[in-house]
Amino acid sequence: MYNLIVLERDKNLKYKCCSNIRNGLNFTRTGLRFCNKLSASGQDNIVPYCNDFYSKFKEIKHSIIENCRKGMVPDYCKNCIYLEEKDWDEFDEVKINFIEVFHWNQCNCACVYCGNRGETHLKITTKKCKSEFVDLYKILKLFIKQNYFADKVKVSFVGGEPTLLKEFNDILKLFMKHNYNMHILTNGILYEKLFAKALTKGNNMTISLDCGSSETFKKLKNVDKFNDVVKNIKRYIKDSGEYSRNLLIKYILIEGINDNKEEIIKWLDLCKELGVSILHPTIEFCHSAVDLSKTGPSDHIIELYEFMKEKIKEYGFILNTYDFVEVIIKNRRYR
Ligand SMILES: C[S@@+](CC[C@H](N)C(=O)[O-])C[C@H]1O[C@@H](n2cnc3c(N)ncnc32)[C@H](O)[C@@H]1O
Repeated sequence: MYNLIVLERDKNLKYKCCSNIRNGLNFTRTGLRFCNKLSASGQDNIVPYCNDFYSKFKEIKHSIIENCRKGMVPDYCKNCIYLEEKDWDEFDEVKINFIEVFHWNQCNCACVYCGNRGETHLKITTKKCKSEFVDLYKILKLFIKQNYFADKVKVSFVGGEPTLLKEFNDILKLFMKHNYNMHILTNGILYEKLFAKALTKGNNMTISLDCGSSETFKKLKNVDKFNDVVKNIKRYIKDSGEYSRNLLIKYILIEGINDNKEEIIKWLDLCKELGVSILHPTIEFCHSAVDLSKTGPSDHIIELYEFMKEKIKEYGFILNTYDFVEVIIKNRRYR
């Protein structure tokens, strides 16, 4: 009898699922969902912040996992590159080990490519403010107290500009206290001492510079702040010392604005001069900014993306890429 049960369980352990479905948690402006990847861009899997939302979220997670076990992957996940068919551990309780923080959208620039522009309408905010959607700091403290998170947790901030969010530093300190491994995304227009400290504790930070000149910066971001960002990159590098290797500088290729080799070379030269270690080239891919029904990125963008990768290595930088961007490029399709 005992053997039979074990065999039955073993049989069910190999199935198609993903680590985001199992252990991911995405705090959006309106509620919780398990992932913020390209394929699960729909809002249909959001559990609104209302009474008992975490129990509801857990229930949904469990039922999705149960369905995956039976071979029924949710429709919105079907083409996702993060799906894996493998032997998954026995699953008794949801322990979150990947958190995405996405609960505010205020920003002090207005990037033409902004993935949030559907909501923000590229409004520029200059004063620090609280999230107008939810008091996430309070929720996080409660979740940590309730032991909802695993011992090792990765955190990515993908909302608005973190230097503008009033409660951001409290959230950062809370995560730092628990040794969560964080990735901060900022435009670098404002300098934040605590971010340099976060770098020295082994966390990563990406500054989306996206160009190598003030003129192009203005066209991309609708603010004249290129020199401020350059100055702040210098400061982060100085203040984080040897840990400045945890700082990434990004370049998103945007058709008709920074999609030329001269601009890319200017960016590379500047990053060399500043002493940056890791560069991150990418293409536009965010759901609300890119029409996913389009066939895919143009030949011109793909060619420049490959050019950037080669040059980054040639200059002696460490190359960082998103795995799903590599898949988009390989398939020449967003989905
Ligand atoms: C929405 S921004 C917010 C954080 C911060 N204000 C910044 O500029 O990095 C978060 C990240 O998304 C990236 N991003 C925004 N729109 C994108 C798009 N359409 N395609 C690809 N990446 C995008 C930015 O480069 C940035 O690294």
